[in-house]
Amino acid sequence: MESFSTLIRTASHEQHTEAETSTFMSALLGGRLGVDAYARYTEQLWFVYEALEADADRLASDPVAGPFIRPELFRLAALEQDLAHLRGPDWRSGLTALPATQAYAARVRECAEQWPAGYVAHHYTRYLGDLSGGQIIRDRAERTWGFAKKGEGVRFYVFEGIANPAAFKRDYRELLDAVPAEELEKQRIVGECKRAFTLNTEVFRALGEEFPLSA
Ligand code: HEM
Repeated sequence: MESFSTLIRTASHEQHTEAETSTFMSALLGGRLGVDAYARYTEQLWFVYEALEADADRLASDPVAGPFIRPELFRLAALEQDLAHLRGPDWRSGLTALPATQAYAARVRECAEQWPAGYVAHHYTRYLGDLSGGQIIRDRAERTWGFAKKGEGVRFYVFEGIANPAAFKRDYRELLDAVPAEELEKQRIVGECKRAFTLNTEVFRALGEEFPLSA
């Protein structure tokens, strides 16, 4: 039988392509957006990671979500450094979540509080993506806006505590395969992963509307 890590990857493949090729992501990867759009996107990520990481201490002792809580993944401090660089020391005063971001963060919080297995779906969707495609985004951001390589402005994409991302991802997939959940619950987790992708795509859509490309 197919492993759970393979199942969740396969099930979200189509939506992954959709997210990757969304207007906003394509424009960002194509170097066609200003640094302001990148900063706005980074602000949205702050709300998502605040929701993912605010409850980490409590989730660390949860039998299902606990094994996934790894401090080397935490991104909130890195996001705050990036925002200080992008927006200045007063970055917090102008920080606002788009409605799509509010909806995304609210769902993450709801899972964190009420459904640890659903939280795992959100954890997977963000952190494994950051370790993978995130590196492509970092490279493009460095080239487009001249950030120092792995420096100020792109710290979010730099996992200082993970020397070997490929090995880390292998271990992570083993954690997924070992999730103590029965078949139906695993299907629900896959469903939540799809929802997580949809929530991301909706944030991209909203950002695309805020930063339309001039023809
Ligand atoms: C420009 C955007 C993106 C690019 C270029 C990209 C690229 C990639 C690549 C190349 C991989 C494969 C890594 C590997 O096999 O080790 C990957 C994996 C992944 N990406 Fe993305 N990605 C992007 C956006 C996203 C978004 C928006 C999400 C969701 C929020 C996401 C979530 C994931 C996940 C969860 C995986 C791990 C799949 C698995 O192996 O189980 N990616 N991405």
